[in-house]
Amino acid sequence: MSEQLTVVLGATGRTGRRVVEALQRDGHAVRAASRHGTGPGSVRFDWDDPGTWEPTLTGATGLHLMAPDGTPVDPAFVAAAVDHGVRRIVLLSSSAVEEMGDQRLLDAERLVRDSGAEWTVLRPSWFDQNFDEGFFAPSVMAGEVLMPVGDLRQAFVDAGDIAAVAAAALTRDDHAGQVLGVRGPQALTFAEAVATIARVSGREVRFDGDPEAYRAALTAAGQPEEVTEAELAAFSALRSRGDDEPDDVVERVTGRPPTTFADYATTAAARGAWRG
Ligand SMILES: NC(=O)c1ccc[n+]([C@@H]2O[C@H](COP(=O)([O-])OP(=O)(O)OC[C@H]3O[C@@H](n4cnc5c(N)ncnc54)[C@H](OP(=O)(O)O)[C@@H]3O)[C@@H](O)[C@H]2O)c1
Repeated sequence: MSEQLTVVLGATGRTGRRVVEALQRDGHAVRAASRHGTGPGSVRFDWDDPGTWEPTLTGATGLHLMAPDGTPVDPAFVAAAVDHGVRRIVLLSSSAVEEMGDQRLLDAERLVRDSGAEWTVLRPSWFDQNFDEGFFAPSVMAGEVLMPVGDLRQAFVDAGDIAAVAAAALTRDDHAGQVLGVRGPQALTFAEAVATIARVSGREVRFDGDPEAYRAALTAAGQPEEVTEAELAAFSALRSRGDDEPDDVVERVTGRPPTTFADYATTAAARGAWRG
């Protein structure tokens, strides 16, 4: 493809920010799209404001497609992307979408497969960065992480590795039409992951994987019962699926081994992620 321009949605987020960096490092032209991003190459994009879509898509040939948790991928946006000349779409989906019944992401996957563009679907496991940039960060700081999955093992993966896979799929021809699971190099229990963070941060942090503890905590926090029960059902389905197995996707696609959870945690701690 000549005159390539890749639009990266979620460009201020955990993965999108790193996709922008990976593409720019390799000299690719990027448009970084989000509501709050600033700086050269940024454009204001809002799923809830279709008036922002055309400036986002004009001149684009590639698209890193993601929608934040809870937000569906609007079919009209995907159609507009292809109408504007987007020829390649890489979708950030998630592992276990079928087992957990994640209709939002299953619908998004179907949209890109049917879009008429070349597509690659990424199905990453839990991001390492959930523990410092994401939804577990407040729990780590409070000293207790609750997740109703018991001793289930998950192949936590570094957002930088997911971004490197996304950047390769956006700029090379050899991943079109593929659904890529993207996993870290070890399958860890949450207890092991939390213990690693406790060790490198010097904080006391414990893990509780009991569904009853989860239900009690969220009820006390005022979360509606039906939301909590839906989450418990999804996590129960994840447990039934069994432990993750690490895969070789990161190394195969990027040519370098995936970051270990311990290396992620050590680097984050050195940066001061869990100070304060
Ligand atoms: N966390 C995990 O372990 C995990 C694992 C597998 C898959 N996933 C999937 O990954 C996705 C989340 O990716 P992430 O963690 O990189 O995202 P993130 O860090 O939560 O960032 C969300 C991004 O979306 C942008 N955004 C928020 N609302 C928007 C709106 N209305 N219109 C346009 N942009 C908006 C935000 O920027 P602005 O605020 O500047 O707009 C930000 O750049 C979800 O679909 C999730 O299911 C997550």
